[in-house]
Amino acid sequence: MATWLVTGGAGFIGSNFVLQQRQAQAARIINLDKLTYAGNLNNLAELRHDPDHIFQQGDIGDRELVARLLADYQPDAVIHFAAESHVDRSIHRPETFIETNVVGTFRLLEAVRGYWAGLEPAKRAAFRFLHISTDEVYGSLGPEDPAFTETTPYAPNSPYAASKAAADHLVRAYHETYGLPILITNCSNNYGPLQFPEKFIPLMILNGLQGKKLPVYGDGQNIRDWLYVTDHCEALGLVLAKGTVGASYNIGGRCELTNLEVVNHICRLLDELFPTAASAPHSGLISFVPDRPGHDRRYAMNISKIERELGWTPKESFASGLAKTVRWYVDHPQWVEAVTSGAYRQWLQTHYGFGS
Ligand code: NAD
Ligand code: DAU
Repeated sequence: MATWLVTGGAGFIGSNFVLQQRQAQAARIINLDKLTYAGNLNNLAELRHDPDHIFQQGDIGDRELVARLLADYQPDAVIHFAAESHVDRSIHRPETFIETNVVGTFRLLEAVRGYWAGLEPAKRAAFRFLHISTDEVYGSLGPEDPAFTETTPYAPNSPYAASKAAADHLVRAYHETYGLPILITNCSNNYGPLQFPEKFIPLMILNGLQGKKLPVYGDGQNIRDWLYVTDHCEALGLVLAKGTVGASYNIGGRCELTNLEVVNHICRLLDELFPTAASAPHSGLISFVPDRPGHDRRYAMNISKIERELGWTPKESFASGLAKTVRWYVDHPQWVEAVTSGAYRQWLQTHYGFGS
């Protein structure tokens, strides 16, 4: 069995990926995660007795720790999810985004380069460094613009997007300069189980369930291209197995919706599940709040390259994926309770002016 070092595997997408790949027994996984506010060991609870999932709490920027993990476990691939990921937090406090997404990625690359250079030739040739990035590096589209392709010039607008763009450039440079066998994926907005409820969809579901305001930024007409998280994880598995070294792949859901369309869809699902709730119809909770500074108007991904070259296509429709997601949050009150403790309430207070 192959061995992979996964970074950020206790976060939303990372934990979905680790669960999916362990289910398929695709590889032994060494999971390095700092367990910031966004990292959650409860996400990995079902792997508690799995001898082929080894969790290590730690920072990707800790060169000695990363070098030791690489030397001890001799991975065949590194799959790099770890990042600060929330745009609004990057506006309040950009520094941690530079520390983790830029400096952390740089230090990780340095440690991996040293390890990779010392591998015997066959293992060296087969090694892969898969870097997980975002569509936000491409900037914002106008209503009639064609979707982003892999050759769209980078034009990041938030500190988060700029930090991810910097990381992408470093990863690419390590291929061009040192020959490190890298792959980059740029994905659109994910949703699904285990997403921390600072992000739009789980925030709206949980606020709706609790009869709280549903804060929509600006006019609610910003467009995102939504992808169910397990579809993203399957795409990553394929890119790792079959992607062309040095290439980048766009991943998306072919599912452009305005924020108002998404929140209204969530409200309809909550009305169906809880028709007699005091807050039904839930759309009455929608509340327009001041816009996010530098708020990108529209994202859309052209995914023809990954469809054509690797045969991947999203499986889940938005209707089925969103229904599953709402059901998951309804069915996991303990998970919700654990993540919406003190620090989370403080974030709501700082950002929206309401804590509970
Ligand atoms: P997340 O915030 O849910 O999880 C990030 C994880 O990284 C957490 O477990 C956290 O503890 C860990 N982490 C943070 N700093 C670390 C450090 N210095 N060292 C080790 N671990 C650290 O993020 P997510 O939504 O799962 O996103 C995962 C990756 O996918 C990110 O790189 C993000 O930029 C990218 N991405 C996310 C989306 C999306 O819609 N969520 C879309 C495209 C790309
Ligand atoms: O596009 C991929 C990106 O998607 C990832 O790289 C990021 O890590 C991920 O956080 C996400 O970024 P967005 O900024 O698009 O996601 P967010 O869930 O924060 O917001 C989605 C949309 O909803 C966006 O237009 C802002 C809006 N929004 C968000 C929140 C939290 C609101 O209207 N109200 C809110 O309270």
